[in-house]
Amino acid sequence: MAGLVIILAVFWSLCILSIALLRWNEVRYRKKGLPPGTMGWPVFGETTEFLKQGPGFMKNQRSRFGSFFKSHILGCPTIVSMDPELNRYILVNEAKGLVPGYPQSMLDILGKCNIAAVHGSAHKHMRGALLALISPTMIKDQLLPKIDDFMRSHLSDWNNKIVDIQEKTKEMAFLSSLRQIASKEASSISQSFMPEFFKLVLGTLSLPINLPNTNYHRGFQARQHITSLLRKLVEERRASGENQEDMLGFLVGEENKYKLSDEEMIDLIITILYSGYETVSTTSMMAVKYLHDHPKVLEELRKEHMAIRDRKKPEDPIHYNDYKSMRFTRAVIYETSRLATIVNGVLRKTTRDMEINAFTSKIKELYKSSSCTFKQS
Ligand code: HEM
Repeated sequence: MAGLVIILAVFWSLCILSIALLRWNEVRYRKKGLPPGTMGWPVFGETTEFLKQGPGFMKNQRSRFGSFFKSHILGCPTIVSMDPELNRYILVNEAKGLVPGYPQSMLDILGKCNIAAVHGSAHKHMRGALLALISPTMIKDQLLPKIDDFMRSHLSDWNNKIVDIQEKTKEMAFLSSLRQIASKEASSISQSFMPEFFKLVLGTLSLPINLPNTNYHRGFQARQHITSLLRKLVEERRASGENQEDMLGFLVGEENKYKLSDEEMIDLIITILYSGYETVSTTSMMAVKYLHDHPKVLEELRKEHMAIRDRKKPEDPIHYNDYKSMRFTRAVIYETSRLATIVNGVLRKTTRDMEINAFTSKIKELYKSSSCTFKQS
């Protein structure tokens, strides 16, 4: 009997403590001028619900509070906008102080020189360095032939097998990017690199709490492994003096007008791997699903590809002109991107206090996206 009383007492104390904490956190952010919404738990906010439910979390909050509401996600007090007109305003007004504002975990793990962490002239420089790697000439002469070659080997042993498309598209996105970055070394480093990279990705979508066994801690450790591996690659490339035709070769090469320090180079490579991973793998996976669901579209796509193949020998590569001529394929890619909505939100912060949508609170940071806008207050 005494045991039951103790259990009940502990249970009720925990309930009261939880209610008090939740209430305290709401009151803390009930400043004049902030939009309606809930702030969840101290420190954790509503991160768990946000990560578990994804777009469903935003839709649910919108049905309760309207298209402009406050929350607390990924370690930041945040304001979410799901208002298309306001989102447009936020997207085109970087000059007014609405700059990219990614969560702390992402900035820590992707590095302080990554493109999402830098603004103004530093952003321009990093962006220029990235665009030089994916210029039309680079796509034509380097990227496309490597993708073609990689995809042939990636698809070569699927016959008469049950494959997990999600797993295969993830491998594809990571391994094809790695081959673009370091063609010669990719096959020898991929096995040790890939698990570390997956930990890094998870870490960027976690609360920035550096305790053992947290995703953030594992992600941060993975970043250290990846950084030392990449540093070694850069040093070996410089020492060899060879002119390799891949992204790393271009970055360390003399003809590259965007000179980067080793640290910037490493953060840029991590950014390329990271940005092209979830986006490309999920889009490709959804393309397979949509083609499966629409056999007539698949038939038409096959016709377009077979017409190109018929003009070539089996071992002949795909050329840039072949790719340009794929009108139907391009329509399938656009429609897949439209339907799959891979990027559900983008993040912005404000560099000064601002009045947005008639709310006059002291907003220091802001997140925005294609469908939602988030602000950190
Ligand atoms: C289906 C594929 C992709 C989708 C849907 C996608 C979507 C997006 C979106 C919505 C943004 C804007 C983010 C913002 O404004 O905060 C963005 C930016 C960016 N993406 Fe992608 N992306 C894709 C593929 C890639 C790939 C393959 C790369 C690798 C090079 C990449 C690299 C980047 C970079 C570096 C930025 C930041 C640009 C800047 O700050 O100037 N993306 N992407």
